[in-house]
Amino acid sequence: MYDNDFVPGRNDACWCGSGKKYKKCHARIDERLDRLYHNGYEVLPRGLLKTPEDIEGIKRSADINIGVLDYVAEHIRAGVTTAEVDQWIHDYTVQHGGIPADLNYEGYPKSVCTSINDVVCHGIPSEDDVLRDGDIVNVDCSTILDGYFSDSSRMFCIGEVSAERQRLVDVTRESVQRGLEQVRAWNTLGDVAHAVQTCVEDAGFNVVREFGGHGIGLEFHEDPFVGFVGEPGEGVVLAPGMCFTIEPMVNAGAPDIDMNDPNGWTVRTKDGSDSAQWEVQLVVTEDGYELLSW
Ligand code: MF3
Ligand code: CO
Repeated sequence: MYDNDFVPGRNDACWCGSGKKYKKCHARIDERLDRLYHNGYEVLPRGLLKTPEDIEGIKRSADINIGVLDYVAEHIRAGVTTAEVDQWIHDYTVQHGGIPADLNYEGYPKSVCTSINDVVCHGIPSEDDVLRDGDIVNVDCSTILDGYFSDSSRMFCIGEVSAERQRLVDVTRESVQRGLEQVRAWNTLGDVAHAVQTCVEDAGFNVVREFGGHGIGLEFHEDPFVGFVGEPGEGVVLAPGMCFTIEPMVNAGAPDIDMNDPNGWTVRTKDGSDSAQWEVQLVVTEDGYELLSW
């Protein structure tokens, strides 16, 4: 097989632990991946495909992650500091048996990223950042439970926001939906990227190039990198069991970013324009996808 990984006998148990015979489970998928690989397509090693047991674990982790964001949605408002949001997330996650995946990740100091207005991503919660009427803020939350990772983010509009900010938030959410519509086995990541990019650029906005989505499940960031600019039919082939995020960062102005914050994390738009992001986590199925975290 193309990835030099184990291939069971046709009448033996499938490698995925489903309990079915290989020939009734992954044999056809594996053969198709092998064929695609030899025809020059980009194909992930089968070891990155999630087993039914993995997916159950990821869903339990995502239950916490979704619950955290629902809690934030109920409580976030003008006057709250992003440090308070961080505390809510930390406490909710720990009380439900999880670990905030961001905390100490490559030295990151908090349990969540809170990115306000011109902050593209990796805003660090702070006592000094008071949410004000008219702000747009992305809350990007990730959870570990029993070794399984979940990751999603939402935008929150604080009080009354300008029509243009609202449009940025709405278009970004719509672009994720357009990307999702392209997710099904045997499409490619280029199909997803192209759908996102087209939606964003038709609205006069721009996709950030340097950051993207990622495989996720047994680690926080796994292959593949999921970019949101691309051409249909290009890039990694989607296979059942692939688990990844769609999380375009969309700038109202130019796509360029400024990564010079002395804290080493916070990314801003270079031109000071606003930026928005929504993130969902999914698993690819034969005929589409299942959302795992949102
Ligand atoms: N949650 C981010 C993502 O969507 C990663 C944040 S890493 C951190 O991939 F260290 F900044 F928290
Ligand atoms: Co992510």
